[in-house]
Amino acid sequence: MQIINDPAEMQKIAEKLRLQHQYIGVVMTMGALHEGHLNLVKLAKAHAGTVIMTIFVNPTQFGPDEDFHRYPRPFEQDAALARAAGVDYLFAPSAEAIYPEGYATMIDPGPIATRFEGASRPGHFSGVATVVVKLLGITRPHLAVFGEKDAQQLTVIRRVVADLNIAVTILGAPVTRESDGLATSSRNIYLSSDERQQATVLYRAIQLAGREITAGRRELDTIAAEAEALVRTEPDAEPDYLSFVDEATFEPITQATPGKACRLVMAVRIGKTRLIDNWRFECT
Ligand code: PAF
Repeated sequence: MQIINDPAEMQKIAEKLRLQHQYIGVVMTMGALHEGHLNLVKLAKAHAGTVIMTIFVNPTQFGPDEDFHRYPRPFEQDAALARAAGVDYLFAPSAEAIYPEGYATMIDPGPIATRFEGASRPGHFSGVATVVVKLLGITRPHLAVFGEKDAQQLTVIRRVVADLNIAVTILGAPVTRESDGLATSSRNIYLSSDERQQATVLYRAIQLAGREITAGRRELDTIAAEAEALVRTEPDAEPDYLSFVDEATFEPITQATPGKACRLVMAVRIGKTRLIDNWRFECT
């Protein structure tokens, strides 16, 4: 595995790989790699002959009061995990290399970026969309794999790639979960052992909703309220949002339509740590 820090060098290598007819897959991360990221690599390797991983803690997607400065950056450990997973190139630029002096362009992904995660974290999706488009331009992949845990991010990225005519296939990868259902996340390491136990309530809320939908209930707003009440039974859990949404627009929906899928999305603070999760439901 080759480690590259310079965007121009990465771009040159990607161009060369393309000339050699290599099918390139990219997995973009902010590091602090866990099983979920390694599953993204596995999926990329199943489709692509060459896999590039990017590690970049992107400052433009963090709000001023968020965890940019304390975000874990175990680079040596990440590089070892990436190598063992079969990554061919690890692109790890500095913030100055991605946003040099005079940098000005930010992408506005439109209304979807203002809902839920976008409402709670103003500017977040503009930062994500901007860095993703830049990293696509640098790594020149045919395929990019993103986790469905960040379901709204994935929808935003699909929108941006379609709207800007970027020739890349976007593949969503299923959420990786611990044995008790907690979605893997780089932020799980912030949780104390008591908070870690309480954090399973996100998955328990999903299960509750699943049981109600399977029982044929259609009033999604009431089901969401019941799921939120369950979350609140944990002493350190504070829901930021918990709602059913239309998959494509992330507009809230209150009533299930038979034959149409919907997604339950939630963000919950457990102590000081903000966790997100989601589940796609078919309504029969
Ligand atoms: O999902 C993430 O880790 C980040 O939002 C991404 C896509 C790497 C952009 O910084």
